[in-house]
Amino acid sequence: MSQSPYHLGFTTLNAETSTEQLPVRGTVPVWLTGTLVRNGPARFEVGDQKYNHWFDGLAMLHKFAFAAGRVSYANRYLRSHAYEEAMAKGRISRGEFATDPCRSLFQWVASWFSPKVTDNSSVNIAQWADAVVALTESRLAVRFDPDTLATLGRYEYDRQLKGPLASAHPHFDAARRCHYNYMLEFGRKSKYRFFSIDQETGRQSEVATIPVETPAYVHSFGMTERYLILSEFPLVVNPLRLRFSGKPFIRNYKWEPDRGVRFHVVEKESGRLVCTARSTAFFAFHHVNAFEDGDDIVVDIVAHPDSAIIDQLYLDRLRSSEPVTAMGKLTRFRIGAWGTEDNVSGERLLEAAIELPRFDYRRRAGRSYRYVYGVGNAVPGDFIDNLVKMDVEQGTVSTWREEGCYPGEPVFVARPQALHEDDGVILSVVLDTRKGASFLLILDASTFSELARADAPHHIPYGIHGIFLAQAIRSAS
Ligand SMILES: [Fe+2]
Repeated sequence: MSQSPYHLGFTTLNAETSTEQLPVRGTVPVWLTGTLVRNGPARFEVGDQKYNHWFDGLAMLHKFAFAAGRVSYANRYLRSHAYEEAMAKGRISRGEFATDPCRSLFQWVASWFSPKVTDNSSVNIAQWADAVVALTESRLAVRFDPDTLATLGRYEYDRQLKGPLASAHPHFDAARRCHYNYMLEFGRKSKYRFFSIDQETGRQSEVATIPVETPAYVHSFGMTERYLILSEFPLVVNPLRLRFSGKPFIRNYKWEPDRGVRFHVVEKESGRLVCTARSTAFFAFHHVNAFEDGDDIVVDIVAHPDSAIIDQLYLDRLRSSEPVTAMGKLTRFRIGAWGTEDNVSGERLLEAAIELPRFDYRRRAGRSYRYVYGVGNAVPGDFIDNLVKMDVEQGTVSTWREEGCYPGEPVFVARPQALHEDDGVILSVVLDTRKGASFLLILDASTFSELARADAPHHIPYGIHGIFLAQAIRSAS
């Protein structure tokens, strides 16, 4: 089968580089000061073994630092235990999302139910207390220096908070000065466990536990000013099957649409389960934003009709010319906070495809908001081939697209003293398959038109998520 035009984004990048000043076309706003740090899989084989799925590859960090209209770049592999063991042994060492390196059942069991759970933190980046951490969906994260990208060591959630899995999408509550996340503890009685992390001290505290017999795969959750929302999609696992099947992690999960979706609403302050609402089945990786509207809780989610998107992100398929057809849509759910068995239905806000959604998190998280930015799809059957800006109030979509170019997650950075919600820039790492290299694209978030692009010295494998740090600017100064 012929290769997809976008397969380069799923090709290993060996080089670790540092460039003081990238060539820039256009004008980088002089107010843009800080560092975009991005995370994603960048090595897809070890020795003669291959990872199966996009989410499995070994984590690489990429840094674009901005100062005085200039852009610097550096990239380094995260020296996780999973990486170091793989490099030392010449074979895949830890069980990942859809790759099982162990031939021995007992070794595999050990990998998800012991300290050997993977720390290949390739999904996201967070900053709390004095730590900047790379995250994956395990309880192990990895600290790194955002200036040098040097790995500093392991970060593990408090051992009193039990469970091998944690979300790679913690939320930050600016009013309470704490982060929220959830863990999943497998067992005869499994438990979802919300907990908080104090922004100043890093101290972790349990907020609430929700018992569950058949846990769901839940990649992110929602947060309003007063509530946390855990959306249980009907992609579920029998914990005993997970422990003893010998299959890679995600292949133990079954799509059971008759279960529908359950939205568990937890009050932050008391830890009380306020209500559980239900809807018909859908699947999602990403909650966008959520907010309170009178007595209602509004939850915006990038909804997929089912979990087919997971299967379409296996590397063999992505590298072939088989089309990626499973695309998400921005969908709004309205939950009456005081009903115990409320049935809710989603309202499609816009028809255009969207994934990897971002918004002005710093000022709008948990509050009503207007603009969502994401990656999308313009040519049917193509991969992510455009950037989209959705105006939730007006129901309109703006797009950016260029032939042969495949953009990554768009990160919004507000202009200092911004006057409007979209007063700022969008930063996106774009793979230009015509040149076989990537560039950092800067769009005016308001007009969605290009301001500048900075050429990276090589291709950058498709990233997943990233963070903009306003202070870490050493190498661009
Ligand atoms: Fe994600």
